[in-house]
Order: sequence, then structure tokens, then C-alpha cells
Amino acid sequence: MQDTDAAPLRVAVVGTGYMGGGIAHTFALAGHRVTVADAGPERAREAVDRLLEEGRRYAQEGLFPSHAPDRLARNLEAAPDPAGAVRDAHLVCEAVPEDAALKSEVLAQLSRQAPPTALIASNTSAVPIADLARSVQGPERFLGAHWMNPAYFVPCVEVVPGPATAAQTVESTAALLRSVGKSPTVVADSPGFVANRLQFALYKECTRMVEEGVADPAQIDEVVRNSFGFRLPFFGPFLVSDIAGLDVYRGAMATMEEAFGARMGVPEAVSERVDRGRLGLKSGEGFFPHAGPDADRLRRLRDHAYARLARLREDVERDHT
Ligand SMILES: NC(=O)c1ccc[n+]([C@@H]2O[C@H](COP(=O)([O-])OP(=O)(O)OC[C@H]3O[C@@H](n4cnc5c(N)ncnc54)[C@H](O)[C@@H]3O)[C@@H](O)[C@H]2O)c1
Repeated sequence: MQDTDAAPLRVAVVGTGYMGGGIAHTFALAGHRVTVADAGPERAREAVDRLLEEGRRYAQEGLFPSHAPDRLARNLEAAPDPAGAVRDAHLVCEAVPEDAALKSEVLAQLSRQAPPTALIASNTSAVPIADLARSVQGPERFLGAHWMNPAYFVPCVEVVPGPATAAQTVESTAALLRSVGKSPTVVADSPGFVANRLQFALYKECTRMVEEGVADPAQIDEVVRNSFGFRLPFFGPFLVSDIAGLDVYRGAMATMEEAFGARMGVPEAVSERVDRGRLGLKSGEGFFPHAGPDADRLRRLRDHAYARLARLREDVERDHT
């Protein structure tokens, strides 16, 4: 978490479930004034009670800073309805259930009730922002801000402009997210954006392997978290492929293509690089350049990251079994 060094903003969070709660925690802990609203006044009040209680517990367990309970008590309040929450907001975060019709209806109301200068962000997991923007009054100040679960702890927020979103809206939202300790990445508007399209592609293949009897769910989870999943906290798929060698990838994928057809085919981007001798770390360039000192630094980072990650996992698992 980072403290705000600018004047505190008024943030409205509409929909105070799992995600709305984490979003509210993040802004309130950074020092902003957060007003939450839900489907009724009672639910909003219960949400604030729950967030304060969680804040106390997380502080006791060392997951939140020790000043968190006081700061949350000062910065979190419940509004009787969404109109009351957004009335004077600088930023509106919509986090109602993943139902395009409901979101459109809620966003239409919020955009009429919020100040015309307020930024409005939807936490949709997959609905294209272009679709939701159609119901928003002033779509130039509207965009997707897709937080990950649990919102307070997971760094990424996908920032997704729609066709009418102003460049200033994207810049201000990304800057605000960075200022509260998040890692915003601006991506194009496409169903499921980046994170869920990948996550669900992997998930589909997992369920398919269970159906085919290749492995059961526990075995698949074990393999994933102990193999390529183990690398992902430090390196994304492209850097992992550069480290492994794109020629190695091409060879393995050719076998998969024979068995499973084009859906597992070797991507042109890989073949073309291998043909040109761009094999990754070992040749000095793959998807990324790896000049001499950078290559050595990357190898050391990899070795230290994996050794320390293995110890961290052992520690956490020992403490919680
Ligand atoms: N759960 C996740 O892992 C996850 C991760 C990223 C994004 N998201 C997205 O975040 C959004 C919220 O998901 P969630 O998991 O927090 O759901 P949730 O069911 O935990 O919370 C939704 C909240 O919205 C409230 N609500 C329903 N109708 C409302 C209305 N008309 N006005 C105001 N509040 C209303 C509900 O009472 C509930 O408190 C969805 O779009 C979801 O796809 C979820």
C-alpha cells in the first residue's frame, strides 16, 4: 500500500461484494475517502462493518499496516444508495455482478448521478467496454479497470479504454492506480481482456485433460503450480519462452500440432524467429533483446528468484498446515 501524497479523493464503490470490498480497502488505506453503496442501505452498512472487521484482523496478522484499523474507520462510509455514493465523487468504481444488462443499467444511473467530471470505471471481468459505454452518459470519462482477486493484494489492474474514452481518462486512471500501489496495464478492449482470456484458455485445457483421463484435478493443480506456474511470479510467458529457447518451443509444439492439430500449432511468431536465429537468451535475442550483461543479470535473477521462491513457499505452507 502507498499513502496518497496528493489531496485525498472521494471514491465511490458501487457493489460491495468480494471485489468492491478489496477496491474500497485499497483506496481507503491509501488515504482517500471511500463511500460504498450496494443494492440497499443495510447491505452497504454491513459491508463497511465487514471491511472494518477484516481490516482489524489483517492488521493483527501483519497483512495490513498497524494503522489500518484507524485509517479505515476514518475513510470508509456507507451511502444509503448509489446516487448518494457518487454525488460528489472524483472516481466511481462499479463492481456489481457480472451481468451485462445489470451493469449497463447501473452504469447508466451512475453516470447521470455522478459529477460530469468524475471518472467512471467498470470492474467487469469480460464484457467489452464498448458494449457498456453505450449506456454511459459522457463515455469519454468511462473505461474498464479490471482488478484481480483479492483486489488489495494482487498487483495488476487491466485498464481498458473503450472507443470513446479520452486519453486523459486513461492517463489519470493509470496514475491514480499506481499512486495506491497497483500495477496498471493498459490493454485493448476485447472480451475477457488479457488476464481472463488466458486464464480461461488454460482452464478449458485443464478440464479437457480431466475429461480425457490424462490427470485428475488435484494432479493437474500439482503439476501446474510446481512447473510453469512456479515461474510466473517473476517471468511472463514470453520471457519464459526466451529463457527456455524458442527452438525448444518450436520442437515441442510441432509434436503437439501433430497430435492436436492447428489449435496447438507452432505460432508464426516463433517459427519466424527461429528461422532467423533468434532463439532467445542463448542467442542474444528472442521476443526481447538479451545483450551480454543483461543476459547475465537475467540468469542470476532467475536463479535467485526460484531459490527464494521455493523457500517462501515452504515457509508459508509450514505456517498454514
Ligand atoms: N470474484 C472475482 O474473482 C472477480 C475478479 C475480478 C473481477 N470480478 C468482477 O467484479 C464484479 C463483482 O464481482 P464480485 O465477485 O465482487 O461479486 P459479488 O457477488 O461478491 O458482489 C457484487 C455486489 O454487488 C451488489 N449488487 C447487486 N446488484 C446491485 C445494484 N443494482 N446496485 C448496487 N449493488 C448491487 C451485490 O449485493 C453484491 O454485494 C463482477 O463484474 C466480476 O466479474 C470478479
